[in-house]
Amino acid sequence: MEAIRIGLAGAGTVGGGVVRVLARNREQIAARAGASILVQRVICRHPENRSDLAPLVGELGLDWHALIDDPEISIVVEAMGGIEPARSFILAAIEAGKHVVTANKALLAKHGNEIFAAAARKGVIVGFEAAVAGGVPIIKALRESLVANRIESVVGIINGTSNYILTCMRKEHISFDEALKRAQEMGYAEADPSFDIDGIDSAHKLSILSSIAFGGPISFDKAYIEGIRGLQSLDIEYAEELGYRVKLLGITKRRGNGIELRVHPALVPERRLLAHVGGVMNAVVVKGDAVGSTLYYGRGAGSEPTASSIIADIVDVVRLIGVSANHQVPPLGYRVANEEYLPV
Ligand code: HSE
Repeated sequence: MEAIRIGLAGAGTVGGGVVRVLARNREQIAARAGASILVQRVICRHPENRSDLAPLVGELGLDWHALIDDPEISIVVEAMGGIEPARSFILAAIEAGKHVVTANKALLAKHGNEIFAAAARKGVIVGFEAAVAGGVPIIKALRESLVANRIESVVGIINGTSNYILTCMRKEHISFDEALKRAQEMGYAEADPSFDIDGIDSAHKLSILSSIAFGGPISFDKAYIEGIRGLQSLDIEYAEELGYRVKLLGITKRRGNGIELRVHPALVPERRLLAHVGGVMNAVVVKGDAVGSTLYYGRGAGSEPTASSIIADIVDVVRLIGVSANHQVPPLGYRVANEEYLPV
């Protein structure tokens, strides 16, 4: 079987998850992609601290130029986070003709228009399923499964940290600060947690969803943003008494000739499915004119859920670039060599 060599920039929570899941499910992923996926190089700030990854990857290093300059690497994964050097790295990779997969919602919200224009000029793919709602395949749903629809609205819980905080405050009657500390310990929060609790992370993700749903440029700077920092346990208790749950929602919808883009805490009636999305889970309701309402639900943060989406994008690229003239996407019912169906 042919091999596709990838380079990974960043070996933290997300990058580490990508290496682990690729190693664990190697055979199955290769069967589905039609090629083995080899992690040829990983770069990170402290390679000496990631000796656990060494047996699973080709080389561990410090300098991202090594990924760009490696002619055998055709796909790079950006899992550094933040704006710089992630932006320069992605633009350099595109310039070098490499396909890019990224989970970096802050970068796409601010510089996505520049990055996608560069990719279009070079004819390379930028995959970003992991940038919104972690392991939930919402980008694919909007771009592919719902392609026939005129989208009317996208409404969702798209920040796991704030949903986790609100859930802990409601269920365990703990303070906002205590709940935030727990979310940080679980590894859900951004490096700067104000992105989570002030609604900025949700707005990054919402502006990406809105652009796909309604077709315009990514317009993060047009979003109304209000977070959950000012909420107290009492607000949540009173809401519950009245039959509501407090949720941080991202909402984008058609309104007259324009598009609404807003993030704020909202009272969600208990009879709604979104009211019951607890902990770090994310959920997005998309309404289309043909399909009606559809719901996408799952883990919106964390190492392996995010890795799941990144690897899906890598496999998509492998399929699209057609590693082998003979390769076809496997039909339903294909088998990994050593797996048998069990009798029921
Ligand atoms: N801090 C983000 C969240 C991580 O809590 O949803 C995933 O984007």
